[in-house]
Amino acid sequence: MYMGDSSCLSLAVGLMVLCVRLVSAAGGRSMMRGETLLANGLGRTPPMGWSSWNHFGCNIQEKLIKETADAMVSRGLAKLGYKYINLDDCWGASSRDTHGRLVPNATKFPSGMKALGHYLHSKGLKFGLYADAGTRTCTGTMPGSLDHEGKDAQTFASWGVDYLKYDNCDNNGINPEDRYKKMSEALLRTGRLIFFSICEWGKEMVATWGNDMANSWRTSGDIRDSWDSMVLRADRNDEWASYAGPGGWNDPDMLEVGNGGMTLEEYRSHFSIWALAKAPLIIGCSIPKMTNDTYEILSNEEVIAVNQDLLGVQGKKVKKDGHLEVWAGPLHDNKVAVVLWNRGSKKATVTACWSDVGLDPTVAVKARDLWTHSSRYALRHQLSAHLDPHASKMYILSPL
Ligand code: GLA
Repeated sequence: MYMGDSSCLSLAVGLMVLCVRLVSAAGGRSMMRGETLLANGLGRTPPMGWSSWNHFGCNIQEKLIKETADAMVSRGLAKLGYKYINLDDCWGASSRDTHGRLVPNATKFPSGMKALGHYLHSKGLKFGLYADAGTRTCTGTMPGSLDHEGKDAQTFASWGVDYLKYDNCDNNGINPEDRYKKMSEALLRTGRLIFFSICEWGKEMVATWGNDMANSWRTSGDIRDSWDSMVLRADRNDEWASYAGPGGWNDPDMLEVGNGGMTLEEYRSHFSIWALAKAPLIIGCSIPKMTNDTYEILSNEEVIAVNQDLLGVQGKKVKKDGHLEVWAGPLHDNKVAVVLWNRGSKKATVTACWSDVGLDPTVAVKARDLWTHSSRYALRHQLSAHLDPHASKMYILSPL
């Protein structure tokens, strides 16, 4: 059962342990960022942008990418931090050119990648591309970069690429650490700052070594546009929370918000948890065709601010009672971000005691509701919400 007011108080001291757990959340990382292989200085906060994969799959071409970039700017999303425009699989020709270089699919991208990079940069955006740490990409439509790392990194740099997603198909069973390290080193050698996003699906305990060579690492297989798929990824990602921090982030995969397979409340929960967990916020729907409801979720500046908080500590699941959960994480200035989440199929009340979320149990706090944009003052001991199935509430608690 969830605890009421008095139990919040009486258990306060014992639960201070949880508070310590939260505050030390960044302690699992083995090295300081400056000592690691990929000391490129990027990703001090999680990356924000868009990727073609979740909505468009292989169906991408120049016009779509330009329209997406235009809409990103005109709808004000770029100004909120969504800068990366990432082409996923299927942008390239089936084979390399006579010099052994990767080349774009000339039918889909007639102006070429350098021109596309220019276009994106001229709008103040950043250019992301996809490649694979094996012999073919996952759709099999393009060559992989295994044993071509140096040349491909040079090609990407010459096109003005700012972000590389690096996938794991057709890898001949070669140790992923070795394969990803080679590209990481090759990117550094180009001299261009390229955010390195590795996608090895959370195998081989990637969080324990990803930070040595990448700015983010996928902690699971591919997300689908369904509630079950989304919550599973949130939970998998949560297991590795202590390995994330400025410069290197756990990646539970791209957002499905706006793709139609979940309810608005489910999408709101999806976005809230991704933001709290300091996940990359990579939009996966159609930007030009985005509905107002979808826009309202993805453009919530208060939720985005939690994701981009400079402390860079991944928020975690701190309390669970059946389907009722509390997720929380520290922010700068002793503030705490909290999500109350009803993952069950019936309406229910979810409660967070101050001691659950790392706050001194005796303090009075201001609670800012990040979805209604309203505040309550001088709250003590706990915060509760009566929530519809799959709904959540997200707050910032500030000690007064
Ligand atoms: C893998 C990745 C996906 C996507 C596809 C493209 O499945 O995990 O995110 O990039 O490949 O083929």
